Amino acid sequence: MKVLVVGSGGREHALVWKIAQSPEVKEVFCAPGNGGIAQIATCLPIPAEDIQGLVSWARDNRIDLTVVGPEAPLVAGIADAFMQEGLKIFGPRAQAALIEGSKSFAKEIMAEAGVPTASHRVFCREEEALAYLEDLRPPVVVKADGLAGGKGVTVAFTLEESRRAIQELFRGRFKGAGAKVLIEEFLQGEEVSVLAFCDGERVMPLLASQDHKRLGEGDTGPNTGGMGAYAPVPFFTQEIAHEVEEKILKPVVRALNRRGCPYRGVLYAGLMLTEEGPKVLEFNCRFGDPETQPLMLLLKSDLLEILLAVVEGNLEGKSLEWHGGAAAGVVLASRGYPGEYEKGHPIHGLEEVPEDVVVFHAGTQLQEGRLITAGGRVLCVTSRGKNLREALDKVYGAIEKIHFQGMYYRRDIGYRALRLLPHA
Ligand code: AMP
Ligand code: GLY
Repeated sequence: MKVLVVGSGGREHALVWKIAQSPEVKEVFCAPGNGGIAQIATCLPIPAEDIQGLVSWARDNRIDLTVVGPEAPLVAGIADAFMQEGLKIFGPRAQAALIEGSKSFAKEIMAEAGVPTASHRVFCREEEALAYLEDLRPPVVVKADGLAGGKGVTVAFTLEESRRAIQELFRGRFKGAGAKVLIEEFLQGEEVSVLAFCDGERVMPLLASQDHKRLGEGDTGPNTGGMGAYAPVPFFTQEIAHEVEEKILKPVVRALNRRGCPYRGVLYAGLMLTEEGPKVLEFNCRFGDPETQPLMLLLKSDLLEILLAVVEGNLEGKSLEWHGGAAAGVVLASRGYPGEYEKGHPIHGLEEVPEDVVVFHAGTQLQEGRLITAGGRVLCVTSRGKNLREALDKVYGAIEKIHFQGMYYRRDIGYRALRLLPHA
């Protein structure tokens, strides 16, 4: 089979790495890919947003399956465009991808399905949003309705902060994404990512993972795309897993079906484990980044087989097999990220990384045979061990070997699990 992966981050590198291990796969392509993906697949100079370009290329090159990494092309209808041409694609159609593309749509679906989530109000006018704030006690959470590259959410601890966030959104900080604004109840607890394969009817959850979204150690500082992740999550018990499947995932998939937009792909539920039980913070219509990196190291099953079963609406009787132990991935970022960051610095030491550590590339580029930094998140150093402590020791040991100018990373990935289970 010939497989095309769309995207260019660490998540896509992990997907390419895992798909390439399937015995059915003859060739893997990635559009546009990055410096690391280029070492194991053929990269194409087609941007992930160029839907027509991707359709034409996949048709002309007889691609058997296309797998989409990022949300933007899904929300823009890449799955619809491929299906119209009779091409197989893994990822939801635009109408179902709206679960990530519009937070107010996601809230409507959750209300319909009776899914627990933070209480909220939606506003289309700045004055009304500001007036509503006066009745609330901080902290509150202010969110842009549409896609904002993970930067449209402010957890505001003062009235002043929440006012500023609302003004920025209505005054066009994220263009159309902020035309509608949500003001939401602040939830407290442990945050967990639960991804589930959905074939339109059935759901098949992956192991739960935890991403560290804040830039600074101890989960402080600005929100980022994710600074590191691990799986499984020791405090995500079987009981909670059951509750999430029955009270969140299945009802949402059923509600989407009732609306005539069956969900086929991977559904990512960002959850807060509150004292009242798990509640939804957000849904994403795709794999998480960096959650996918440790998850792909833990997955024993043939990923391609599962992806095809999803696309064909045929998850019945299928199950996922996992390696024991745990896996962790730590992101090496460029100085300045998540704001303006430096680029173009050579990356050293990757050849010294031991074989049981996989370095997934996020923002790298090959320039005249040399690997240079080309993004805010540059690498995700990932490993598996008999437990989380061992996985993390391997990762941090390997990081000692790697260097680029302005390299920044968190030294405490996984601490929330280690703290609760000191012997893990
Ligand atoms: P989102 O893009 O909706 O996941 O929001 C980004 C981050 O903001 C989440 O990962 C949470 O850490 C935080 N967040 C979002 N919504 C809430 C909420 N209702 N209460 C507390 N924190 C939240
Ligand atoms: N790691 C967070 C996300 O993929 O949205």
